[in-house]
Amino acid sequence: MAAQTIMLAAKAMDYDSCPMIGFDPKQVAKLINLPDDHIIAMMITIGKALKPAAPRGGQLPLNEVVFNDHF
Ligand SMILES: Cc1cc2nc3c(=O)[nH]c(=O)nc-3n(C[C@H](O)[C@H](O)[C@H](O)COP(=O)(O)O)c2cc1C
Repeated sequence: MAAQTIMLAAKAMDYDSCPMIGFDPKQVAKLINLPDDHIIAMMITIGKALKPAAPRGGQLPLNEVVFNDHF
């Protein structure tokens, strides 16, 4: 939720963003002197996109992805 809020806020400020989990969290923790009681869940880059994002596949029908109370 926090990541999405940051990404939406960036967009509202005319920036682009990209979420990433493909990094070595231990090495990054070392680089930034991360305290022992913290973990890195993901990273978000924020900046100006060089090119537009690739087109999306589209929205799946809601009756395929939304379940109310039970499957
Ligand atoms: C939680 C999350 C983590 C992601 N991690 C990576 C990543 O480590 N490396 C990567 O290339 N794309 C990652 N992606 C996908 C990219 O953010 C991006 O959507 C993808 O590269 C497609 O780029 P486009 O939006 O310009 O088409 C991740 C997406 C999400 C939602």
